[in-house]
Amino acid sequence: MSLTILDAIKQRKSVSKYQKDAVLDHSTLNELIRLAGCSPSAYNLQNWHFIAVISDEGKALLKAAAFGQPQVETAAATFIVCGQVQAHKTLQKRLSPSVKAGTIPADIANAWVAAASRSHEGNFQLQHEEAIRSGSLAAMTLMYAAQGMGLASGAMGGFDAEQIKKHFPLGDDDIPVMLITVGIPEKNNWPQKERRPVEEILTLA
Ligand SMILES: Cc1cc2nc3c(=O)[nH]c(=O)nc-3n(C[C@H](O)[C@H](O)[C@H](O)COP(=O)(O)O)c2cc1C
Repeated sequence: MSLTILDAIKQRKSVSKYQKDAVLDHSTLNELIRLAGCSPSAYNLQNWHFIAVISDEGKALLKAAAFGQPQVETAAATFIVCGQVQAHKTLQKRLSPSVKAGTIPADIANAWVAAASRSHEGNFQLQHEEAIRSGSLAAMTLMYAAQGMGLASGAMGGFDAEQIKKHFPLGDDDIPVMLITVGIPEKNNWPQKERRPVEEILTLA
């Protein structure tokens, strides 16, 4: 039985201890990424790419790249979530299914492509920021998708990007944004940690 989105938000916590013999089948991996791909992105750029590290050899390489953090080895899968730069160059292709489906009028799609090209071409800071934004949103969706499917997850920013690029099939435009471990949790993980009170983090304007 799947959780409501509110239950998933309330129950998700960062897991680092996984049952190490658990395996995720290909249809589960595909479904997690299909759901992560439902995330929003500027102009619907969909500038993301996911590498599911599931082999023993891949996990050993990833553990070394993640400064020895053991959850990369015990999780059933660790996703290298990448955001992509130069995304304006593939925007026409990304929008064409929505134009064909009648979701976006062709002239609006063309205007979006022109606007994205104007702002992104040669602006590497914006491209980088957009890659981090899209990758981060997709990573969050992936964690909630896992939670909704009864799995546990953990976000990781502690990794050496150069080692990841060296050992895994990232494209030239891929920037590794986050690692997301997914698997079956052991019982001895910490609960979700305490959060700052709303009065401290919300300002009404
Ligand atoms: C961007 C980011 C980077 C993180 N990097 C790591 C990491 O490298 N290793 C780790 O064990 N946890 C990492 N975490 C998990 C955080 O420690 C965790 O989300 C935070 O303590 C809140 O825990 P909770 O959600 O279980 O309450 C990271 C989380 C985020 C969002």
